[in-house]
Amino acid sequence: MVDSVEEHYGTDGIVERVVGALTESGFDIESLDPDVLAGADEFHIGGRDGTMQVAAALNLKAGHHLLDVGCGIGGTARFFARSTGASVTGIDLTPEFVEAAIELTDLVNMSELVDFKVGSATDLPFMDDAFDAVTMLHVGMNIADKDQMMHELARVCRPQGTVLIYDVTITKNGDLTYPMPWSSTAEFSFPEPVDSYEKAAGNAGLRHIGNSDHYDLALRFFNDSPASPPPVTLGHLMGPRMMEMRDNAADAVNQGLISPVLMKFQAP
Ligand SMILES: C[S@@+](CC[C@H](N)C(=O)[O-])C[C@H]1O[C@@H](n2cnc3c(N)ncnc32)[C@H](O)[C@@H]1O
Repeated sequence: MVDSVEEHYGTDGIVERVVGALTESGFDIESLDPDVLAGADEFHIGGRDGTMQVAAALNLKAGHHLLDVGCGIGGTARFFARSTGASVTGIDLTPEFVEAAIELTDLVNMSELVDFKVGSATDLPFMDDAFDAVTMLHVGMNIADKDQMMHELARVCRPQGTVLIYDVTITKNGDLTYPMPWSSTAEFSFPEPVDSYEKAAGNAGLRHIGNSDHYDLALRFFNDSPASPPPVTLGHLMGPRMMEMRDNAADAVNQGLISPVLMKFQAP
């Protein structure tokens, strides 16, 4: 029985599972390329390809400070920092994920550029205008109050800064089967159509720049086998239940019920 969002995501031993699998595959843990973690540390449709779509829309530079909201175990935060030289702060509700994010970032020697904190997207522990840009990947599906979420993302972003959301959105009426990757039951699941994000963003004073729908990426992600299987997967992050969650998400994508959409906004 899962009683909260954090309980759905959090398990003990995440780093041990990841490091154990890499050691078994012959990787030298002392000199790990952060890319080898990608199969386990990018928990969104499209994996690294999805992250790259977000990075391309970001226009981040060295010297900038990005906030990644709902950062999971830090894969996207590390990728954005590495590919741009910007510093990145990740925040997440699930303590076990933040703990793993800190340990893995240390393991790949990126702690100077990337740091993490436990906290909620609806009550961000940061000052107004603290960041040059804000990203949020596959998190809004866990948040009922989209107005409060957008208000917080807008509040911590500096004037004219970019707020980018890459979320699973509802594209057709129909029943979703649980467990889903983001929730074990319907109780903690709040995926919505893009227009409810746009409405909440407007209420928070954010200017809508545009959307890109990545349904084709989702079809490829769920239906095509990778050319070579990655050394670690979301199974190492979430445990054996990941298989059923993935199958349910794949069915929903193939039925056209959900699609990952990248939404770009500008802070006032
Ligand atoms: C599907 S995972 C995505 C993780 C990461 N963004 C990625 O793409 O790899 C959803 C994440 O959102 C976090 N989360 C859910 N609700 C949250 C909230 N209200 N505030 C902060 N984080 C939240 C979960 O703990 C989990 O790490």
